[in-house]
Amino acid sequence: TVLIIDFGSQVTQLIARRIREAGVYSEIVPFQSADAAIDRLNPVAVILSGGPASTSDIGSPRAPQRVFDLGVPVLGICYGQMSMCIQNGGKAEGSDHREFGRAFVEVHKASPLFEGVWDVGTKHEVWMSHGDRVIELPDGFEVLATSPGAPFAAYADEARKFYGVMFHPEVVHTPDGAKLLSNFVHTIAGIESDWSMGAFREEAIRRIREQVGDKKVICGLSGGVDSSVAAVLIHEAIGDQLTCIFVDHGLMRLNEADEVVGMFRGQYNIPLVHVDASDLFIGELEGVSDPETKRKIIGRLFIETFEAEAKKLGGADFLAQGTLYPDVIESVSFTGGPSVTIKSHHNVGGLPERMNMGLVEPLRELFKDEVRKLGRELGLPERFVGRHPFPGPGLAIRCPGGITRDKLDILRKADAIYLEEIRNAGLYDAIWQAFAVLLPVQTVGVMGDGRTYDFVLALRAVTSVDGMTADFYHYDMQFLANTATRIINEVKGVNRVVYDVTSKPPGTIEWE
Ligand code: XMP
Repeated sequence: TVLIIDFGSQVTQLIARRIREAGVYSEIVPFQSADAAIDRLNPVAVILSGGPASTSDIGSPRAPQRVFDLGVPVLGICYGQMSMCIQNGGKAEGSDHREFGRAFVEVHKASPLFEGVWDVGTKHEVWMSHGDRVIELPDGFEVLATSPGAPFAAYADEARKFYGVMFHPEVVHTPDGAKLLSNFVHTIAGIESDWSMGAFREEAIRRIREQVGDKKVICGLSGGVDSSVAAVLIHEAIGDQLTCIFVDHGLMRLNEADEVVGMFRGQYNIPLVHVDASDLFIGELEGVSDPETKRKIIGRLFIETFEAEAKKLGGADFLAQGTLYPDVIESVSFTGGPSVTIKSHHNVGGLPERMNMGLVEPLRELFKDEVRKLGRELGLPERFVGRHPFPGPGLAIRCPGGITRDKLDILRKADAIYLEEIRNAGLYDAIWQAFAVLLPVQTVGVMGDGRTYDFVLALRAVTSVDGMTADFYHYDMQFLANTATRIINEVKGVNRVVYDVTSKPPGTIEWE
């Protein structure tokens, strides 16, 4: 095991992720419990993460001193590197010259850390984020690389295999960072690759069994990848102690609800309660056009429906959720400052505050693409695992200006044609998310010899890495023309199609 000692950096999980990508198992522990973790795990290498503290603050965190007596390789990153320096007799200080963002380091000395990527005399892009700086290295340490703002950008005691880097190798903005981390675990620590999604699956199952024992678990299924993967995994661990509740709000896409129910009951034999609550949801939403009001109504009805169903089942001890790591960080505020609510997000989360149950969240450490890999490992169909994200409030937020059943039907048909065209053109995987929006605007058209006065449909497609920022997808015009023609010919109620060319920011991906 590689032990990652966490000093509270926002990107510590990315270190674990890179180590997983190198095929090696790691565990993250907060610095406060690192001492006990050393006894428990007997680590073969240690990584010290970055963190928000300054080493000059009184009581600022340190690694247990014995980390440096274990005789195993240690890599300190950013704050962790500063702590390693001080704990081995070097000096660091707070500095007015803070360095954030892109920087270039120049390599001065060859090292196994740089093997196969960085040669002496070359310069490389890295991502810096620090306030403190090292002013004196401990005995036995030598500088490996410098940057204009950091004369000790990378340094090492090669004999003891202690390495310090001021930059963050774990983030994608350090293009060679993954290779440096792989060098640390493979070349320096001599660990073989034996970690895989299959191993994660086994380990997750063991942990779920340990947590749940013989108690009951309920899981809110949304039809999305995350909750589905969580449910299948949990079912594998504890079988029919798990019951899934699928609150069908009637705002899903064409055939989607049937597909989800079919897959869970048919393919996996997972006990599933399918609640058709479309009358309730659509009834309360009818005539409501304010986006936040819509979102709040959906969130409230979802919780009420879910609770009522859970009660019918006689309750449960645990609530299962497909929470991913990005959900975990986004919900933690590090600045403590107020942030503006752009949209009240609804998904199957939000429940734990209300229901007095333990939480089972087996995907908490994973990123979206890792969840997809796990889904494949569990045998979920490719077409399902590779799906674009779909928002919890469903089509209600793709029908600006108040929904009706008729409008939802029009939107469903048009959306299905649009997505079919995208798949046929082989573009589905190149796009992060694509969907149609039915606008509350009617325009005049001419079809055959007659006048039409029908709705405008907007098409949206974006590329993105994480949904936080996005660019609109640059289609070939012919693709748009063909798709528009098909939609107008085949969907009664639409006589005009437009394409949304707004990026995020300033737009958001969804229209509401
Ligand atoms: P926006 O529209 O804020 O969306 O740019 C970013 C991503 O989040 C999805 N989205 C949601 N997902 N519940 C969800 O589970 C929601 O309430 C919700 N609203 C937006 C959106 O589809 C996009 O992928």
